[in-house]
Amino acid sequence: MEIGNMTQLQIMELESNYLEGQLPGTIFHLVKLLFMTLSENQLVGTISPELGNSSLWDIDIAHNNFSGLFPPSICVAGKLSAVSAGHNGFTGIHHQTFQNCTTLQYVDFTANNIVAELRDCFSEHPGGLSTMAFRHNQLHGTLLTGRGESFLCNCTDLNLLDLSSNALHGGLPKCFWDLSSLQFIDLSSNSFSGIVPFSRKCQDNLKYLLLGNNQFRGSFPLGLKKCKHLITLDLGGNNFSGTIPSWVSMSLPELDFLRLSSNMFDGIIPDEILQFRQLQVLDLSKNKLTGPIPNDFRNFTGMSQEQKNRDLIYSNQYIQVEIHIVWKNVDHVYNLKIAAVVGIDLSGNSLTLEIPNGLTTLSRLRYLNLSGNHLSGCIPEDIGKYSTA
Ligand SMILES: *[C@@H]1O[C@H](CO)[C@@H](O)[C@H](O)[C@H]1NC(C)=O
Ligand SMILES: *[C@@H]1O[C@H](CO)[C@@H](O)[C@H](O)[C@H]1NC(C)=O
Ligand SMILES: *[C@@H]1O[C@H](CO)[C@@H](O)[C@H](O)[C@H]1NC(C)=O
Ligand SMILES: *[C@@H]1O[C@H](CO)[C@@H](O)[C@H](O)[C@H]1NC(C)=O
Ligand SMILES: *[C@@H]1O[C@H](CO)[C@@H](O)[C@H](O)[C@H]1NC(C)=O
Repeated sequence: MEIGNMTQLQIMELESNYLEGQLPGTIFHLVKLLFMTLSENQLVGTISPELGNSSLWDIDIAHNNFSGLFPPSICVAGKLSAVSAGHNGFTGIHHQTFQNCTTLQYVDFTANNIVAELRDCFSEHPGGLSTMAFRHNQLHGTLLTGRGESFLCNCTDLNLLDLSSNALHGGLPKCFWDLSSLQFIDLSSNSFSGIVPFSRKCQDNLKYLLLGNNQFRGSFPLGLKKCKHLITLDLGGNNFSGTIPSWVSMSLPELDFLRLSSNMFDGIIPDEILQFRQLQVLDLSKNKLTGPIPNDFRNFTGMSQEQKNRDLIYSNQYIQVEIHIVWKNVDHVYNLKIAAVVGIDLSGNSLTLEIPNGLTTLSRLRYLNLSGNHLSGCIPEDIGKYSTA
């Protein structure tokens, strides 16, 4: 069969098969083709630049073994809206790939080997982008273009930004707090540095902010005070210092994941930390915290009462969003949709006095690590009440 002869084809769905070999050269001649789904096969080879001339709106080639440079000018035909190319072996992106991509909304290159300067790739910004997912690649460079500006500041429709596990560095643009559509930001495991810029406002939409494993410094970012709909906050593995502010639970009442581990936070754990009603994971380990563990657990209901699974917050195709927490040398996957892990880790600090009795009311707790502190006294009698899940 010569696929190029199927001139009336508009929708081609071939996903989840055992297809192998290269894409036939004629595939992009199908002048009426709008949707092409080839994901989850064993296809190899490169994608020809003719992709850009096709009438396609939506191309899904994820989970194959495609390789090489992703071609330039993919938007010349002026229709392309979604490119899903994650989990392949692409090694580069042409600096013109995304030029003039005014119709492009969804770009997912998660888990490839793309070596590229991110800023160059998006210098002619595709302003309409709503999803930009490049987790697990080798992107380098900075987000900033100078004077705190960034190509990202033009992406006013951006809803999900996942640049985690790359080699990006430099500071964050101030405009992060102005991008009103952003719901999800994951910049973890890069070499970002500096102080998280302050802003008096935070957009209502921001729900997930993951900045872990970078080199951010300074005090707990004050700008977060206004992010009242945050659900997940990961600042772990940086060089933040100073005290944990008492306002976190008041200002971020919907939080269910808080990781501040492996920083330089000092002072006491504020009593208010136990005012979180939905928290599922509290990880303050490996800091320089002192004083007693707060002990009024009456409002700390997230770990004692059954939680309903969250609806998928964003209407985004990109749903495989997980955080890995290594506990007991086991890699626990914290799925952002279903909070299945419930745990407290206060280990590796200098906490003193007794283990509070109230801890034993947290019947849903799966993981508790208080080791490496200066705790004394007895182990609470009721500790056996923990259900072994
Ligand atoms: C496809 O089209 C070409 C030219 O239009 C023709 O020569 C060829 O036989 C066709 N192939 C099939 C399998 O019909
Ligand atoms: C693709 O379009 C460019 C100009 O937009 C043109 O020069 C080129 O010949 C086209 N390629 C094909 C295979 O149609
Ligand atoms: C983008 O548009 C400009 C102006 O129309 C054109 O000169 C340029 O070649 C286009 N770039 C790409 C990659 O299509
Ligand atoms: C972390 O910050 C402190 C000052 O707060 C500084 O002395 C130290 O060198 C920093 N560590 C790293 C690894 O940057
Ligand atoms: C508990 O915390 C300590 C110090 O942070 C760590 O070394 C240890 O591996 C943790 N224990 C488990 C079982 O995860």
